[in-house]
Amino acid sequence: MNYLNKKTIEDIDVNGKKVLVRCDFNVPLADGVITDDKRIRESIPTIQYLVDHGAAVILCSHLGRPKDEESKKKCTLAPVAKRLSELMGREVKFTTDVIGDEAHAMAAALKPGEIMMIENVRFYKEETKNDPDFAKALASLADIYVNDAFGTAHRAHASTAGVADYLPAVCGYLIQKEIKVMGGALENPKRPFVAILGGAKVSDKIGVITNLIDKVDTLIIGGAMAYTFNAARGIKIGDSKFEADKVDLAKEILAKAQAKGIKFLLPVDNVAADAFDVNANTKVFEGDIDDGWMGLDIGPKTQALFADAVKDAGTVIWNGPMGVFEMAPFAKGTIAVAKAIADSKAISIIGGGDSAAAVEQLGFADKMTHISTGGGASLEFLEGLELPGIACLQDKDEK
Ligand code: 3PG
Repeated sequence: MNYLNKKTIEDIDVNGKKVLVRCDFNVPLADGVITDDKRIRESIPTIQYLVDHGAAVILCSHLGRPKDEESKKKCTLAPVAKRLSELMGREVKFTTDVIGDEAHAMAAALKPGEIMMIENVRFYKEETKNDPDFAKALASLADIYVNDAFGTAHRAHASTAGVADYLPAVCGYLIQKEIKVMGGALENPKRPFVAILGGAKVSDKIGVITNLIDKVDTLIIGGAMAYTFNAARGIKIGDSKFEADKVDLAKEILAKAQAKGIKFLLPVDNVAADAFDVNANTKVFEGDIDDGWMGLDIGPKTQALFADAVKDAGTVIWNGPMGVFEMAPFAKGTIAVAKAIADSKAISIIGGGDSAAAVEQLGFADKMTHISTGGGASLEFLEGLELPGIACLQDKDEK
């Protein structure tokens, strides 16, 4: 699929039209307070363009995974509408309705340049089932559909994909930016191209490893996943977490990397602990880790090795922490990698989720070329999979 061939909001006349915009407003909340509004901020350029060009904008999104009436209360989009209104300095009307009379009446009365938001689309179970009647009801609120929910583009749901069956469908600036930067790096990377993958499980990242191994010059593996690879290399990993059933797979990947002649870097030393506890005793092991100790972060030599590989890179893609980043004694490896990427002149792309959160928390966000707003979506994109929320949009040459 040619991702860059999709129509955008600039390819369609929105003047005087009602435009349904699917955003990913699935933001973290603590006691009803938004703790990170990146996804809301990133949705603004599209919304601003639409109101500036005479559209009446109807926003929709999911928030969380509400299952029952009790959890629905915690998943209302009301705080998002309020925050968006503050950020844009203009009114964002909100209805607690989704596809009923109230939502339709508000949409019908909405004037060009006005913005409204309907309630969480996942309050209907039909949303995640991609129910055609539900998608049709959503579509009937508007004349045009814009998908700008990159973070949810890997879901084939009614508001992310189904609705495109009933309306002219184009993408917004956020999806356009995400696919341009990440797609560009995958298709035509500035070399050397270095990918750094971390996190707990080989099984979570196997698709990404398989896709990237054909494209990168250097593949760096950290996090608990590295222990499966080190076990495959015959290195003792003590009591470290690993996937015994993935050791053969790790061997195959190592052999493939060798056959391709790419650099495949694994930790050469590890910070290990005698318990999975922030107050545990710690010790750095080079090579083998003794029994009774579990590796929870990369060690200082590995930090230097990884930083050196990043230093002269042309493109770096990073997804997944190097250790148990949430516990300060085991966060240094992730911090060192984030710093090395921030210091390099490479085009730097941070996959969403934990690594994005780490970069933001550490204050390196403005040093990165691109921090994806998608966790699962950016992973699937890096795997080379077709994302239903993008596949459903019109191609540039479509009439
Ligand atoms: C995310 O936060 O990854 C997206 O909003 C998708 O949410 P979901 O995993 O509940 O579909």
